[in-house]
Amino acid sequence: MICSPSFLSSDFSKLKEEILSINEAKWLHFDVMDGKFVDNKTYDHQLLEIIDEFSNHFYDCHLMVENPEEVVDGYIQNKADMITFHYEATHHPLALVEYIKSRGVKAGISIKPNTPVGVLDELLTHVDLILIMSVEPGKGGQKFMPESLDKIQYLDQSRKKRNLHFQIEVDGGINYETAQEVKTAGCDVIVVGSFIFNQKNRNQVIRALENV
Ligand code: DX5
Ligand code: ZN
Repeated sequence: MICSPSFLSSDFSKLKEEILSINEAKWLHFDVMDGKFVDNKTYDHQLLEIIDEFSNHFYDCHLMVENPEEVVDGYIQNKADMITFHYEATHHPLALVEYIKSRGVKAGISIKPNTPVGVLDELLTHVDLILIMSVEPGKGGQKFMPESLDKIQYLDQSRKKRNLHFQIEVDGGINYETAQEVKTAGCDVIVVGSFIFNQKNRNQVIRALENV
């Protein structure tokens, strides 16, 4: 699996140092919250521009914002590699996927824990990635919801049956134990926040998570 570290729970007073401490990760998970789709508010694409001055990760942007179509251009301009928005946040998921891809960026769709995975059936032929939330979006450090394993299995079976090649990512409450569970279910990319940033030798933790 690929590990995409989320620096949401890192120490922002030394963000550069924090991001350099995970320099062996290929992906960097960039959590964006607007204070509307979720209660909390974080940074936006301007921080991505700053991070890009000293990092060359694959920027995995997770937009927890309402009306994502209004903000995607900022992420495209600031070198996002993947833009994932929420199915629940827009009336036009397919149009937005096509727009993001037309700008040369990979496009993903995420669903919250209460959204049934079947709503994505028609979209699976168009997306590069599906992000299954295994916690309620909004903050780090929550407990993994085991119901998300069924969604991962469903997606893995669907792509095999339909010969599709989108990636399956999971976000929230991942540690060594839950990483093993999602891997068995068919997951390709794990987002990991507090479990990495609470430890000292972070690159080693990332490697271990990728090889559970
Ligand atoms: C939650 C965010 C996650 C979060 C993961 O809304 O999307 O990316 O930071 O953090 P942990 O690994 O601590 O659950
Ligand atoms: Zn996230």
